Amino acid sequence: MEDMQKEILFSRDAINQRISEIAADISRDYAGKELVVVGVLKGAFVFMADLIRRLQTPCVIDFARVASYGSGSTSSGQIVITKDIEIQIKDRDVLIVEDIVDTGLTLSHLVRVFRERGPHSLKVCAFMDKRLRRKVAFEADYVGFTIDDGFVVGYGLDFNERARYFPDVYIVTNL
Ligand code: IMP
Repeated sequence: MEDMQKEILFSRDAINQRISEIAADISRDYAGKELVVVGVLKGAFVFMADLIRRLQTPCVIDFARVASYGSGSTSSGQIVITKDIEIQIKDRDVLIVEDIVDTGLTLSHLVRVFRERGPHSLKVCAFMDKRLRRKVAFEADYVGFTIDDGFVVGYGLDFNERARYFPDVYIVTNL
């Protein structure tokens, strides 16, 4: 929307700083292992690109795409994997990278599906966590930023496909 009104929430500098901290945590936790990092399209692609380049541990990457059916900007409960990963994850150490945990429906579904494939370990790293909006219990293992509510855009996150390219994260104030 052309007339989107927004306020900066997390600057590129704050994002950079936080990603370095998360990358250090992940590198420490997976020292000596090779990770399979799975990005959830499209929203996680910017975060994932920055995160993997700061890991001190080797990784291979893949992507999944998930659709949720229902209202426009939030998921409804009907989750379908529309693009699956191509790498076999049996006995591998897998880290799912997602943009936002909101209701928790997307990630709880993806984790359930991936767990059935027998990974050695499976964890989730989310750029943002909207803790107050859960419909199902879900805890990410690594979280960049926590907010209560509100709609955010930029740094990969969209509003009707717009605003993904913004280098900073904004909160939309006229929704
Ligand atoms: P879920 O509700 O936890 O299943 O999250 C579903 C997806 O909704 C997230 O992966 C995001 O792509 C999207 N989403 C939720 N909140 C926002 C937001 O504030 N901005 C942009 N996308 C969002």
